[in-house]
Amino acid sequence: MTHVKIVEVGPRDGLQNEKHTVALATKLELIRKLADSGLRCIEAGAFVSPKWVPQMADSLQVLQALDLDAGIDYPVLVPNDKGLDAALEAGVREIAVFGAASEAFSQKNINASIAESLQRFESVMKRAQAANIKVRGYVSCVLGCPYEGDIAPYKVAEVARALYNMGCYEISLGDTIGVGTPNKVTAMLDAVTEVVPVTKLAGHFHDTYGMAIANIHTALQAGVRTFDSSVAGLGGCPYAKGASGNVATEDVVYLLHGLGYHTGVDLEQLADTAWFIAEALVREPGSKYAKARGLR
Ligand code: HMG
Ligand code: MG
Repeated sequence: MTHVKIVEVGPRDGLQNEKHTVALATKLELIRKLADSGLRCIEAGAFVSPKWVPQMADSLQVLQALDLDAGIDYPVLVPNDKGLDAALEAGVREIAVFGAASEAFSQKNINASIAESLQRFESVMKRAQAANIKVRGYVSCVLGCPYEGDIAPYKVAEVARALYNMGCYEISLGDTIGVGTPNKVTAMLDAVTEVVPVTKLAGHFHDTYGMAIANIHTALQAGVRTFDSSVAGLGGCPYAKGASGNVATEDVVYLLHGLGYHTGVDLEQLADTAWFIAEALVREPGSKYAKARGLR
């Protein structure tokens, strides 16, 4: 059976955009339940400015409470050297730098141009490599930008290539505001796979217009075998007005198992976890699967 890797981003991309800040104990319980359901890569926090993203302010405590030797990867976002200092203090083994294919989004999200951000990431990369830390690279706005509208596929390819050549082991392609449709996914992947092998790519689809599952199916057909998703469809982006959550992990697992792929995830335990975090946030899970199955 072909394996598809899921990068669970709920504790970071999900919770960073929730109105209510979740208590540290609840975050840790969420991460434990996600790991128990079989997920092996769980993005656990972000070493960013607490003024910009208050929900991630307890990332050091989160990381310090996790067992980093249990065979599960817990990457964290790092935008600059200061973020890397915190990641090193927390003892993390994997970080993710995050750039964008849109100048305007780059400015709003990390207060830097694309070129400036790549310079910052070069510095982070050199120090991370010296410390034996794996580095993942994100490209945001790969199918559209909240400020610039359409983004040309070659712009996505340029940033993806820069991150890959710098040493990122995987490039996650983010439809930050969920505006993509399958033909756009194909055109974007055609451009990116000219410069980065498809085996080094991940799809990161937000579900604003309900297209994420269709887009994942298209990316699967193009050979992508890693997808980012959030339990219960949590998430969004504080610097992308109107962006809804990531595609829900339960719905992605349902799709993948239905297509005959292996994920290693127990769908029922995952649906229980979706209800757990939804109840903590006093709302329903955002996934079709958890809602259809109901609370057990
Ligand atoms: P800045 O204001 O330009 O930074 O922010 P600065 O270097 O001018 O420093 C200003 C203050 O911030 C100083 O503190 C620094 O020490 C502090 P002060 O002297 O005023 O007390 N600072 C930091 N504090 C904590 N951690 C740091 C850090 N760096 C500086 N790492 C910065 C620049 C990048 C820090 C800021 O813009 C920021 O934190 N941005 C993060 C935005 C963010 O997290 N966005 C969401 C994640 S991206 C996303 O969701 C998309 C994704 O899911 C993919 C997709 O969907 O497309 C990944
Ligand atoms: Mg995102």
